[in-house]
Amino acid sequence: MDVRRDLMRAVAGQLGKPHGIAGRALARVLNKTNLEPMRAAVDALEVGAGSTVADLGFGGGAGLALLLERVGPQGRVLGLDLSPDMVSAAGRRFRRDVAAGRLLLHAAGLEAMPIQTASLDAAITVNTIYFVTDLDGVLRECVRVLKPGGRFVVGLGDPAAMSHMPFTPFGFKLRPLSEVQTALVTAGLPAIDHRRVGTGQRAFHVLVTRRVA
Ligand SMILES: C[S@@+](CC[C@H](N)C(=O)[O-])C[C@H]1O[C@@H](n2cnc3c(N)ncnc32)[C@H](O)[C@@H]1O
Repeated sequence: MDVRRDLMRAVAGQLGKPHGIAGRALARVLNKTNLEPMRAAVDALEVGAGSTVADLGFGGGAGLALLLERVGPQGRVLGLDLSPDMVSAAGRRFRRDVAAGRLLLHAAGLEAMPIQTASLDAAITVNTIYFVTDLDGVLRECVRVLKPGGRFVVGLGDPAAMSHMPFTPFGFKLRPLSEVQTALVTAGLPAIDHRRVGTGQRAFHVLVTRRVA
C-alpha cells in the first residue's frame, strides 16, 4: 500500500512540476492525452495570424505547437512554465522558432510573470490551476499581461471526475467549477463561453473569458 501511495505522490509531483527523465516521459504522455483539450483551448482564443499569444504552464508543449501554427510567421508565442526542465525541452524542440524570435520561453510561475503589462492579445492555461494556491492573485497577474479585450481561456478537468483519480489527493487543489468561475469574474475576466471536451457530466471544461476593456 505504501508503495502505491509513494508512486501516486510521485506522479502528482511530476504533474505539478515535471522534471528529470520521468518528467520528460510524462510530458510526452501529456502531449497525447491532453491534445484535444489543448486544441479546444486554442480554438476558443479565436486569434488570427500576427497575434501575440501565450501558453501559461505549457508542460510538454503541445499548446505551443498549436499556437505557433495559429499565429503564423508574423505572430509571436510566449511560453511560460514553472519547470526549468520543460522550458529546456521546449527550447530544444522549438529551437528554430526560438531562434527566429517567434517563440519566447520563460521558466517562471504564473504568480509573477516576466511578461510586459498589456502585451498579450490572448492566453491559455490548461491543467495548471490545480497547482496554484492563490488563484485570485494568479488571475490578477493574468489580467495584467492581457491587452484590454484580450481573451483568456482556462482548461480544467471536471473536479468531480478528478477527485476519483488516485494521484489528486497528493497536493492537487480541486476547486468547484463555480469557485473558478467566480474568481475569473472577480479578477475582471467575465465569461463569454463555456465549452466541453468529451461527453457527459464529467467532460473537460474550457472556460472562455475576455479581459474587460
Ligand atoms: C499537468 S501539466 C499540464 C501541461 C499542459 N498545459 C497540458 O495540459 O498538457 C502542468 C504544468 O503546469 C506547470 N505549472 C504548475 N504550477 C505552475 C505555476 N504556478 N506557474 C507556472 N507553471 C506551473 C507545471 O510545471 C506543468 O508543466
